[in-house]
Amino acid sequence: MKLPFLSTEKLVVGLDIGSHSIKACELRQTDKTYSVVNLGSIILPEGAVDDGTLHDPEAVGKAITELLANLRIKHKKVAISISGYSVIVKKIHLAVMEEKQLEAYITAEAEQYIPFDIDDVYLDFQDLKTNTEDSNQTEVMLVAAKKEIIDDYLDMLQGIGLQPVVVDVDGFALENIYESNYPQKENVALVDIGATKMNINIITNGMSVVAKDIPSGSRQLTEQIANSFDIPMEEAEALKIGQTPAQEKQEQITKIFTSTCAQWVLEIKKAIDLYHSNRANKQLDKLVLSGGGSKVAGLAEYLQRETNVPVEIFNPFAKMHTNPKQIDSEYLNTIGPEMAIATGLAIRTSDI
Ligand SMILES: Nc1ncnc2c1ncn2[C@@H]1O[C@H](COP(=O)(O)OP(=O)(O)OP(=O)(O)O)[C@@H](O)[C@H]1O
Ligand SMILES: [Mg+2]
Repeated sequence: MKLPFLSTEKLVVGLDIGSHSIKACELRQTDKTYSVVNLGSIILPEGAVDDGTLHDPEAVGKAITELLANLRIKHKKVAISISGYSVIVKKIHLAVMEEKQLEAYITAEAEQYIPFDIDDVYLDFQDLKTNTEDSNQTEVMLVAAKKEIIDDYLDMLQGIGLQPVVVDVDGFALENIYESNYPQKENVALVDIGATKMNINIITNGMSVVAKDIPSGSRQLTEQIANSFDIPMEEAEALKIGQTPAQEKQEQITKIFTSTCAQWVLEIKKAIDLYHSNRANKQLDKLVLSGGGSKVAGLAEYLQRETNVPVEIFNPFAKMHTNPKQIDSEYLNTIGPEMAIATGLAIRTSDI
């Protein structure tokens, strides 16, 4: 007999389709936590996905099929997430309403809150129920995503025989996996630095209070290294991640790292300032970095010095069961930061 709480049936496969690579993660729910069943990533051809848009569905579909086959993932239900210009996440203040009334209000009034034509978007909302005894006002999280962009992803996934059952937002997936690993109520800034974008999400009392997407990431470093030495992107990438020794190029590479990291740190400091301007007396407890860009040598230390806030690199598997005989522990440690969003998607469930 199969115990219901050991079943994997309700958990979906997390698929994080980034601009550099696709990450897949399959988990199993055990009593109070999760076990890692399977995970991995595959690099995408240049330009196949950019700014959250699917430019080459065929190449991406092929890469997903190959990745899932390599990992022997058979589940068809998947969760993906979106970010970038195609999605608007906004918190609005409204008088408390019943669910049905709120839905009717949002449908009728959404246009005043979002810069897109209402017919062109999928809308979703959640009452955060922040009303108190003294105030009848509540905050409602509104999400609007461009149909055109989402439909491209859904068509591509269905085209390769998958069943997309959840479409999440990068920042929410990150927040969910962070909270499942670190349940204590800290004031924390989650910063995911990918290949082409940085997502900053400051959370206090389990609620997102500052959320920003910045179009900057680790590919910038590769481009600058490639330009600087007049070498192909692949060679520059290998130098960047330390796969090939830099030798006499080291000094110039360090300069490139320092100037780009300074820009990133500036953006993070701006978000922290915004946080303090709204909640002056609540100190930020820590900064948690994820995404491949968080692995840039020296970044965490530099960020900590500049902000005076403790910095740590996110390990989404911190509280999960892992079997070193199945998945190498060193591989898990190395891939952990990039896997954060995929893992946040893999804890989503499906009732379909
Ligand atoms: N040690 C390292 N130092 C610097 N950069 C690294 C390192 N390891 C990986 N990266 C970079 O991280 C990026 C990949 O990270 P990630 O998988 O989070 O990006 P992505 O999700 O595909 O992109 P995005 O979210 O921006 O669309 C690549 O640009 C890769 O070169
Ligand atoms: Mg990413």
